[in-house]
Amino acid sequence: MNRKRTGFGTRSGFELAAIGSAVGLGNIWGFPYKTSANGGAAYLLVYLLCILLVGAVTMLAEFGVGRRGKANPVTAYKSFSPGWGVIGLLTVVIPALIICYYYVLGGYTVKYALSSFAGNIGIFSSFAGNTGDVLLHTVIFAALALAIIMAGVRGGIETSSKILLPSMIVLLIALSSFTLLLGEGVREGLAFYLRPDFHAISWAGVLSAMGQAFFSLSLGCGAMITYGSYAGKKINLFRSTAIICLLDAVITFMVGLAIFPALFHYVSVTGTAPSELGMGGIGLIFITLPLVFGEMPVIGQVVSLLFFVMTAIAALTSVVSIVEVVTQFIIQCYRIYRTRAAILVTSICLACAVPVAISLGSSLNGGSLLSLFGKNLLDILDGVTNTILMPLCALAACLAMGWCSDHSLSGEETPRQNSALVVMMKFIAPLLIVVIEVFGITDLLSSPGGAGTLMCACAVLVITAVAYYGFYRGRDTGSNRDEALLLEQAVEKRKAGLQRGWYPERDR
Ligand code: PFF
Repeated sequence: MNRKRTGFGTRSGFELAAIGSAVGLGNIWGFPYKTSANGGAAYLLVYLLCILLVGAVTMLAEFGVGRRGKANPVTAYKSFSPGWGVIGLLTVVIPALIICYYYVLGGYTVKYALSSFAGNIGIFSSFAGNTGDVLLHTVIFAALALAIIMAGVRGGIETSSKILLPSMIVLLIALSSFTLLLGEGVREGLAFYLRPDFHAISWAGVLSAMGQAFFSLSLGCGAMITYGSYAGKKINLFRSTAIICLLDAVITFMVGLAIFPALFHYVSVTGTAPSELGMGGIGLIFITLPLVFGEMPVIGQVVSLLFFVMTAIAALTSVVSIVEVVTQFIIQCYRIYRTRAAILVTSICLACAVPVAISLGSSLNGGSLLSLFGKNLLDILDGVTNTILMPLCALAACLAMGWCSDHSLSGEETPRQNSALVVMMKFIAPLLIVVIEVFGITDLLSSPGGAGTLMCACAVLVITAVAYYGFYRGRDTGSNRDEALLLEQAVEKRKAGLQRGWYPERDR
């Protein structure tokens, strides 16, 4: 029986998939409105600094945890010592929670892309309140991600990244070139975006930039551990991390270049005051941009279509990476085929997305259906994951790789220790992550529903710990080899005519 391999076939495939994971709604939806609310370029600078000081180091640590373990996060962490496995399980639970709301937001982008020609002006709250329509688009979005994951790591995730990410970048370049050529208002838009106003950024803004950098780089929720586990042992992870962080930052910067000139063009053409545009809120791309596109004669609908197709692609490549974390764990821990595991994960998360969609729709229409502690479920899930649990997992990755491993990150046989990096991974990044965690929780507690969100996060922690010590600590939680073995068995069975079923990874 010839040995099969699962994982990325090429270094560029690995890097493109990781960039695809990083570039998502965080960059296109979250970044522009947070930048507007926090002093334009001042926020951008802090954000870039966070990527450099904490983000890149944490990403390197997460890739290291994955590649060292060649397995799902639970097994990968267990290989440090059994106690660490609980962090591994938390790293699988967090993406499962994120998927439930990311699916819904992805559904919004699909809806906006599909209805670009009919016009998206003013549809936000009516669409959000129409649960059936939201769920229809959520299912379309989830089905696209499912199709990619079912086709396997190499045949699905790697291949789709090689097509989707470059397409997304081409769209972004086209859009930013177009908006920079709009003429009237462009100069003011660029000044707003690129001239730093340090008075407008508060401590809360700095924290928001740190959180944004984390979310945007997909850190603290297993995606980079899982992709790292599929990376070949010769890949220089320093180099790959530098490329991924750089491209994520450049793409984020370009999103600003595409959006702010267009907003200020609208301001100058219509005479609307910038303060009336709602630039600093979550409606920026779903409420304000449709107005901006609607004001562009003839070409507005095409620009809208390109923008929302780009956003949907970015969201898709990101959600694929988080669904893959949970799918990989189910395949390896329960030894079931990829297709079945992916369908199981997608179905359960879609079921959980239903209350999230209802709750969000209700709150956007001023209601409180299915709210918890006065917040809609998306905000609760976002607080639980982004503010509380993701920094914990990121911290664990830095500590594990900094203190408990000498795995070669450069891909060389005998690793040369880079003392600056060791200091960053052992001390600086963990310290900054603790600061993010402490200030994040303090800030959360001072907001309405914050204590409830913290209680939910504690409940997730307790349930994860009970599940780990009750079920997973003592059992073999599998590794990448298990999927390879399943693949071999499927091929053998098919040859013997025992199985007509389809197994995604090609026979190699
Ligand atoms: N980085 C993605 C974004 O910016 O939208 C979100 C994300 C993807 C977060 C994957 C976490 C993750 F594991």
